[in-house]
Amino acid sequence: MKTTRRSLLALSAAALTVARAHARWPDAQDSRDAGAAHRGPAAIASGNGLAAAKLAFARASGGTDPLDAVVAGVTLVEDDPKDTSVGLGGLPNEAGVVQLDASVMHGPTHRAGAVAALEGIQNPAQVALLVLKRTRHVMLVGDGAKRFALAQGFREVNLLTDESRRAWMAWKAKQNPLDNWLDPEQQLETQGAIEVPYSTGTVHCSAVDTKGDLGAVTSTSGLSWKIPGRVGDSPIVGAGMYLDNAVGSAGATGLGEAVIQVCGSFSVVRAMEDGMEPTEACLAVLKRIAERTRRPYLLDASGKPNFQVVFYALRKDGAYGSASLLPGGTYAVHTAAASEVRASVSLF
Ligand code: GLY
Repeated sequence: MKTTRRSLLALSAAALTVARAHARWPDAQDSRDAGAAHRGPAAIASGNGLAAAKLAFARASGGTDPLDAVVAGVTLVEDDPKDTSVGLGGLPNEAGVVQLDASVMHGPTHRAGAVAALEGIQNPAQVALLVLKRTRHVMLVGDGAKRFALAQGFREVNLLTDESRRAWMAWKAKQNPLDNWLDPEQQLETQGAIEVPYSTGTVHCSAVDTKGDLGAVTSTSGLSWKIPGRVGDSPIVGAGMYLDNAVGSAGATGLGEAVIQVCGSFSVVRAMEDGMEPTEACLAVLKRIAERTRRPYLLDASGKPNFQVVFYALRKDGAYGSASLLPGGTYAVHTAAASEVRASVSLF
């Protein structure tokens, strides 16, 4: 989900228009989509993860463990320097350092692994998988996570690409009119206005195999320009990702702070356990976020949230769905019958 401050404002304006058009919360009927009727093996992902879903489905269908399959899928996104929300090329923190977060969960064993604020390692989802497979712990952070990754044979790499480094320099130069940096527009080699990108993006992928076993993973570089050490929802089991092999799995992208404070993915899975369809479950938790958002800077003029969160849900029987707080959310699905990116149902 790559966006700019200008497009965020446009998104808020669009959300306001849509919110005014809908004087009520969407009901269950509104929330149903094609995924509710699907049964059998499936892989779903955030909108930037169609390739991940495709590979995860192929691997899981070929007998690979569903967690290994989704981690292989997400590795493609982490390795893509053009995706500025994940892995290589992910936008850095305010100090210009890329800090990555990821979590994984394995259905058959109900075990989880996670890393947070990991620097210099391109594939945090793979490191999280090894935390699960090779240790008694669930989460490693910061320097400890990096030492663990290096000991496991991962290579240290510079995760800043030319594009993400330039974006960071432009953001930094625009921060304070009294500092000694010329705004990018004023610099000799630049002409015209510069849009500084902003990302709350992330990649999530969940898969269910022919036996009904699930695997789930979420990986991110987190909010761009975040305060060093900030950890979002993605590596927090129950927030950015959760699964219960008896029920289904869920993941989240968007503003992590909002997801953490409602135990987002855990809540989506519990809502499915209570009988809601996947998309309805996502909408129910988004509604909870909207009702509990109080800080004025997070609200638009009509009192609705001005930030995006998207949930993805996959049930054990293969039914799936997705919903977003604001219009514009998307999800990827790969099944025997479909392989595409679709619009998520929007709460507002
Ligand atoms: N959802 C990504 C983050 O907030 O870090």
